[in-house]
Amino acid sequence: MSSQEHEATAPVGVGILGAGPVTQAIHLPSLARLRDILEVRHVMDVDPAVAESVAARVGARFGTSMEELLADPAVEIVAICSPHQFHAAQVIAACRAGKKAVLCEKPFAMNGEEAAAISAVSAETGVPIIVGAMHTFDPGWLAAEAAWGTLPAQVHTVRSSIVLPPNPRFEDFATEIVGRTPPPARDTTDGEAVRAMLTGGVMGLAIHDLPLVRRFTPDFADVAVLHAETVEPFGYVISLRAGATTIELRAAMNGTWEPSWTFEAIGDDAALSIDFTPSYVHAGSATARIRTQHSTTVLGPYGHNGYEGEWRRLAGIARGTETAPDAETLIHDLEFALAIAAAAASAGSAARGAKAPQETRA
Ligand SMILES: NC(=O)c1ccc[n+]([C@@H]2O[C@H](COP(=O)([O-])OP(=O)(O)OC[C@H]3O[C@@H](n4cnc5c(N)ncnc54)[C@H](O)[C@@H]3O)[C@@H](O)[C@H]2O)c1
Repeated sequence: MSSQEHEATAPVGVGILGAGPVTQAIHLPSLARLRDILEVRHVMDVDPAVAESVAARVGARFGTSMEELLADPAVEIVAICSPHQFHAAQVIAACRAGKKAVLCEKPFAMNGEEAAAISAVSAETGVPIIVGAMHTFDPGWLAAEAAWGTLPAQVHTVRSSIVLPPNPRFEDFATEIVGRTPPPARDTTDGEAVRAMLTGGVMGLAIHDLPLVRRFTPDFADVAVLHAETVEPFGYVISLRAGATTIELRAAMNGTWEPSWTFEAIGDDAALSIDFTPSYVHAGSATARIRTQHSTTVLGPYGHNGYEGEWRRLAGIARGTETAPDAETLIHDLEFALAIAAAAASAGSAARGAKAPQETRA
């Protein structure tokens, strides 16, 4: 075999920054199914015991230095799985290191300045970036998006509804987690806590579906939050309007045994509904239904979920057989999420009598 042929068939090397629950319970199980195309070669975490234990599961090098991981020539794709406040700086450092592709866990930035800095570095270095909004890589959604393209696009109502048990329930089904951080205590009578819960809910959970919402509301500059409220023990009910489209975002993370994650887009002539498989569970793709007056088309389920879809796309990008998502689309998706988070936080905390520092219209 020539060295060029070997390069085309050898697994692509992966380095991981941050080896917490998402790495342990989501990414390693996904990568274990893709060992012929991807190989974890270096694991970095600020906690050396976590880095060592997680690296040992896959026979990778480990350490506590981002610079060492980025300088490792065996690392071709960098996955950023640290807490959100480190994402922007680490995405930028990985792009500057000239890697073949970067996966950044959602959200990849927390404000407009960070988004602009990422956009500039991405344009300058040309390093492809994927954001871990996994539903955008789910084959059920991708098939629905393609099929919807031939139907009338004027959707008047979009709904994203998420009912999940807390993350640790699924993490413990997937693996034995090391180094879990307990969630902070919340006082939802306090306006600041309500702001934080609504911002966290939009940027941490709704963000998986917001790129799908934006597919039906391209005029995203005109976003107005009509109502925003928190749900105990964690969740949100947010109503908004983007242009002429009414959007409902609901989430409840509670003791439920049955996860349910649905997305709906309804127009005068056609309606789309999608049932997603629960996060963490490797139970194949979403199933989508497109209904018109005369027919119902069922798309899926397909063999893999959005997490595996992300990794397949990354391997294809690194090998030059697939292209990356458009960087401008990722920035607009992020701006859409930031606008909703800011407006929901203001509306929700104002409703609790807290002083609202920002206008509710984003
Ligand atoms: N796509 C999904 O479905 C999904 C699910 C869960 C979490 N996430 C995202 O993944 C990210 C990580 O979440 P998590 O659940 O693993 O929990 P976490 O944030 O508690 O754990 C992150 C790990 O990163 C380490 N760390 C802290 N600072 C670091 C730094 N500067 N550089 C490298 N590592 C650092 C911590 O020691 C910890 O082991 C978050 O952005 C979260 O939003 C995504």
